[in-house]
Order: sequence, then structure tokens, then C-alpha cells
Amino acid sequence: IDQLLAEGVAGKRVFVRADLNVPLDGTTITDDGRIRAVVPTVAALAEAGARVVVASHLGRPKGAPDPAFSLAPAAARLGELLGADVAFATDTVGESARATVAGLTDGQVAVLENLRFNPGETSKDDAERDAFADELAALADLYVGDGFGAVHRKHASVWDLPGKLPHAAGYLIATEVEVLRKLTEDVQRPYTVVLGGAKVSDKLGVIDHLLQKADRILIGGGMAYTFLKTQGHEVGISLLQEDQVGACETYLRQARERGVELVLPVDVLVAPEFPDLKTKAPANPAVVAADAIPADQEGLDIGPKTRELFASKIADSATVFWNGPMGVFEHPDFAEGTQAVAQALVDSPAFSVVGGGDSAAAVRILGFDEKAFGHISTGGGASLEYLEGKTLPGLAALED
Ligand code: 3PG
Repeated sequence: IDQLLAEGVAGKRVFVRADLNVPLDGTTITDDGRIRAVVPTVAALAEAGARVVVASHLGRPKGAPDPAFSLAPAAARLGELLGADVAFATDTVGESARATVAGLTDGQVAVLENLRFNPGETSKDDAERDAFADELAALADLYVGDGFGAVHRKHASVWDLPGKLPHAAGYLIATEVEVLRKLTEDVQRPYTVVLGGAKVSDKLGVIDHLLQKADRILIGGGMAYTFLKTQGHEVGISLLQEDQVGACETYLRQARERGVELVLPVDVLVAPEFPDLKTKAPANPAVVAADAIPADQEGLDIGPKTRELFASKIADSATVFWNGPMGVFEHPDFAEGTQAVAQALVDSPAFSVVGGGDSAAAVRILGFDEKAFGHISTGGGASLEYLEGKTLPGLAALED
């Protein structure tokens, strides 16, 4: 982007592919981290006199307009953060978008409505995606890719559009890549990876890859129960992916063969049912050993001994990557595990990277200061796929 700015962008329409996919409660943004992350790029372009056209997806609407997934709240928040009026187009490439972009003066910013209201954005059909990318290209002179959270998607605005316009990477993408490189090249050891979140299946690729890179992998969150089951333990009514037991067996064996420490919870917090996240009514959790979960109970967070165990492993690390909450942190009764891991990262001298929409949101929602971490990635799937060593369409498209 610096090169683009040096060449001059005044009066040019610059399409910024951002990732404004923020968590919403109705129309209230519960974590604006991803919007703040793109401000430096948008502000720099606007200050240089560009007519900035910001586009993003939000959620997974079904290729048609759906008010529940409108980007209007995100556009308003971007305006607050920029301290400027931000125009909002009520469609993505239609009459409103064309008129909004045509009405921009130098230095002004507009946000287009959700890219995924258009089937062409996510289409698997190259021609359909290409046609939609053509419509987007007609709205701009230059392209800046800065939606790091979406670079693993082969979508029209991420993959097809950059080839149609002179393009550059924005500041966010540049920073993310610089940091994640430290986790893939010449990593400082001991290298500890903390994985949580609901599903083992989401993490298969990354576990596979990390078993060749990391010194230890700590597993919490919903995915831990499939590993516990693999070890022959009763997991009650906890989240379980029966079809992943075979994969977990392989990982446990590979970890032993390669000398990678694979650390599972030794105790967990259980309750008879999933807690009410709206009322946050007390769930009266009990602590049980991880190999003694009662048949009628659900594991919802790591327990106190596991918190200590994980914290000690994190303390004794030079590099830590964390993805995925340790429990149902949205409920105060089950937030302690996630809180403890975040605190351990803050206290550890290790270079710490928090990756993943959920864990990044968790540390902010739990009140941690972002600056206490080495880096908080805006990428969930994107940062995992980067660590897996995959070619990411949104980065490949910007490479030339
Ligand atoms: C994310 O939240 O990880 C990104 O915004 C990508 O969203 P997606 O998984 O719906 O493509």
C-alpha cells in the first residue's frame, strides 16, 4: 500500500476488501476488533485523497439480501472510528452502490452492503464469480486487499477481483503475515500451541501440521472431549465427534512417536445442561476429574487443575499460539478456563499470538488489554490455514 500511496491515489476510487465480519447482538456490535484493525489502511487512503470504497462479508447469508446480516452497523462504527461521515450503499453493485461511489469526493469513504448478498461472491462456478468480480471492478480504479480474516476464501472479492485492477496489500494483511511468519519460520522454542473451540474437525489440518512444528499442544474447549473419549473415558453428554475418534487416535500416536507433548484436561467443569447465554442464570457447575465425567453431565470448561497445568506449560515457552476458547466463556460460570489461558499468555515472557475470531473476541470481552499480547490476529480460519502452510487465495492474488 505504501507504494500505491507514493504513486498517488488522490481522486482514485480505491476498493478496500476488508473483513468487517464482527459478532452482532441484533444490531449491536459486541466486538469491533476487526473494524479497528482496518482503520489504518482506510485512513491512510482517505488522507491521501482517495475515494475509498470498503467492502466486506458479514456472516453467511444465502446469496440474497437479509437484514440480519446488514453491514450498516459496521459502517456506522467505521465512521465513528475514523471520525468522519461514512456513506453506506444499501446494495453491493446495484443502483445504490453506483450512486454512492459516484457521489464520493476526494478523501471520502463509503461502505457497500454485504458482498454475500450476491450469489456470485461465494460461487464455486468460476464464470459466475468472475461476472460478479467484473461488477465490483466497475466501481473502482485500484484494489487494496486488507481482509485478512477472509484470505483463505476463494471468493470473487478476494480471489477474482484483484486480477482485474492494479492491487496492493493493506497494512493489516502486511502485519498479519509478518507475525504469522514468526510461527512458521525460525520459531523460538519451546513452542506451545493451545487449541480450543468446539470441533476437532475444524482443526484437523492444523493439528496435523503442528505435530511437525510444535513442542507441545494443549487441548481444551469442546474438542477435548473427543480426545478424552479416544483415551477410553466416559464424556457424558459433552460435545463429541464420534467420527473424529480415529483421527484423534492417530494424533495421540503421532505425538508419542515425535516426542510432542499432547496435553489434555485433567479435570473439567460440568453441568447437567448447556447454560443459558441470554439470562446467564447460574449453572451450578461441579468440578470432576476428566476421566470421571458422570453420564448425565456435560463438560463446559477446563477445571482448576488443568488451568494450572496449562498456565505452567505456557509460562515455560518462548512462543505460544492460541486458537479457540477453553469453555463456554460467554457464560460467567464457564469463563475461567479461557480467562486463565489469556492471563497465562499475558504473564509469560513468550511471544504470544492469539488467533481466531472467537479467542480474539474472548480476550477483549473478558477485559484484557490487547497490547499485553504479542499479536491478536483478526483471522480465524485464515490464521489456521496460514499455519498449515496452505496457499491462501487472498494472499496469492496480491503477490505479483
Ligand atoms: C471469519 O470469521 O473467520 C472470516 O470472516 C471468514 O468468514 P467465513 O468463515 O464465513 O468465510
